[in-house]
Amino acid sequence: MVSGSSDEILAGKVSDYDRKSELKSFDDSKLGVKGLLDAGLTKIPRMFINEQHKTDMTWGSRESSPESVPIIDFKGMDKDAALRTQIIKKVGEACEKWGFFQVVNHGIPESVLNDMIDGIRRFHEQDAETKKEYYSRDSQKKVRFISNFDLYQARMANWRDSLSCVMAPNPPLPEQLPAVCRDIVMEYSGQVMKLGLTLFELLSEALGLNPNHLKDMECAEGLFLSGHYYPACPEPELTLGTSSHTDPDFFTILLQDQMGGLQVLHEDQWVDVPPIPGALVINMGDLLQLVSNDRFKSIFHRVLAKNVGPRISLASFFNTSHPQNNSRLYGPIKELLSEENPPIYRETTVDEFLAYYFSKGLDGNSSLPHFKL
Ligand code: OGA
Ligand code: NI
Repeated sequence: MVSGSSDEILAGKVSDYDRKSELKSFDDSKLGVKGLLDAGLTKIPRMFINEQHKTDMTWGSRESSPESVPIIDFKGMDKDAALRTQIIKKVGEACEKWGFFQVVNHGIPESVLNDMIDGIRRFHEQDAETKKEYYSRDSQKKVRFISNFDLYQARMANWRDSLSCVMAPNPPLPEQLPAVCRDIVMEYSGQVMKLGLTLFELLSEALGLNPNHLKDMECAEGLFLSGHYYPACPEPELTLGTSSHTDPDFFTILLQDQMGGLQVLHEDQWVDVPPIPGALVINMGDLLQLVSNDRFKSIFHRVLAKNVGPRISLASFFNTSHPQNNSRLYGPIKELLSEENPPIYRETTVDEFLAYYFSKGLDGNSSLPHFKL
């Protein structure tokens, strides 16, 4: 196998390149990106290099924007109806304009957030042999360690490893969760599910519906956690921590540490989502854009690679996909439609949506156009 250094590749000197076997030997190592770094590498392997970066307009711009992602304070929301109404208005505006907001005073104690970050760190930094046992590409497994779920589809691999756990509606047995983070994963997922239910109410109301509307549509049944670990990258300008993508769910609650690197595409500009201690980042997913008939936006976002690290984050995806409801159809909500606002999308099942999303991988395109009428 000729893989070549990054200098040679960028100079166009390497032509004979067996990408498939480079991917496979990386995958077979079962040690992810952290394994490469632990082996002392100083140049990133070719599979991580975005070879089209010069022509790819969405890559590499690091301008900062004067505008920033809205920050919404939930403090006192349960006790004051007028305040709650104001918060719903802010949530609705943020979802329409940004598809993203940060929330403070959401009710999950900062100590739980910090313990969760530490738990993800412990998983990724534990003994390699123990960690390897969790490595799998079998999506039927409730708990698994994986580097690049779309490794074989994507144009470039991302500088990131992940621990994934399906937590609802059928959680794993406690002993299936890694011992180093078992207790905090269970604690956090209970708390994040509670916050998720509150958000489904606020989002329903922001759409002008009854607070239980989205819950009654069974949008809140499924919870999938992905604990990401972004090791320091020796050549951060050549790759990304996470490629530009939209999320394949109703919404995501993202917990990030204080390293930074998350950006959202807002009016054709990449805007930083700065870490705020104690805050959570909420972003709309493709399924909520679909059921809201494009009122709420599922926005492209990405994570830059950095030469310092690791950066740790935990994404909690609300996406219902389970045997009891896999024939349920999701389409634009009837109450939101009118003659002036006809349906943009056809109905689909969450399984069909996910199958399409995952067959594509993070290729820089949205999955939604495929479901347009
Ligand atoms: C994701 C995601 C961002 C981050 O998991 O879908 O966008 O900061 N993660 O890790
Ligand atoms: Ni995402």
